[in-house]
Amino acid sequence: MSRVLVAAASKHGSTQEIAEALGRTLATAGHQVDVRAPSDVVSVRGYDACVLGSGVYAGHWLPDARGLVDRTADELVAMPVWLFSSGPVGEPLKPHDDAVDVGHLQHLSAAREHHLFAGRIDRDRLSFPERALVRALRVECGDFRDWDEVEQWGRSIAVALERSAV
Ligand SMILES: Cc1cc2nc3c(=O)[nH]c(=O)nc-3n(C[C@H](O)[C@H](O)[C@H](O)COP(=O)(O)O)c2cc1C
Repeated sequence: MSRVLVAAASKHGSTQEIAEALGRTLATAGHQVDVRAPSDVVSVRGYDACVLGSGVYAGHWLPDARGLVDRTADELVAMPVWLFSSGPVGEPLKPHDDAVDVGHLQHLSAAREHHLFAGRIDRDRLSFPERALVRALRVECGDFRDWDEVEQWGRSIAVALERSAV
């Protein structure tokens, strides 16, 4: 059994729901899981592994998630870390690219993997400028998250934790 932190930055709640689903999968696999907001995490000392994520906005991770990696990089490099982003929407999903900071964050945290999940845009939750941008760019709104994929990725982390028995 590992003590695992799952922390994801979310502006409109959909990435938070992915973090909670990952937390449930890891807890079901027998791990002790805390799902926390990145801004609440001062240190990751005491955890055996971390799963960190963010919604992607204008090509970047949200500042709270970037801040967590920056703040705790010295601790993260000593444990297994997985990163995930949630962003692409539409059919087909767009954009295809990882957030521009992911390479740097993966380097800082020595993360084993980065996984890109599809996201959700719920027009009713957006701010006025966001709604205007989404309309101008003709972005397809809707919930494109694939919960089977989320569960599968969570299970793959659980298997890796069992293998390394951290
Ligand atoms: C104003 C705005 C800008 C966005 N920019 C990007 C982007 O650059 N790349 C991307 O993959 N997704 C982008 N998205 C999609 C979001 O990442 C997606 O909706 C995600 O699920 C939001 O997560 P959250 O609900 O946790 O905030 C954008 C969404 C909005 C509303």
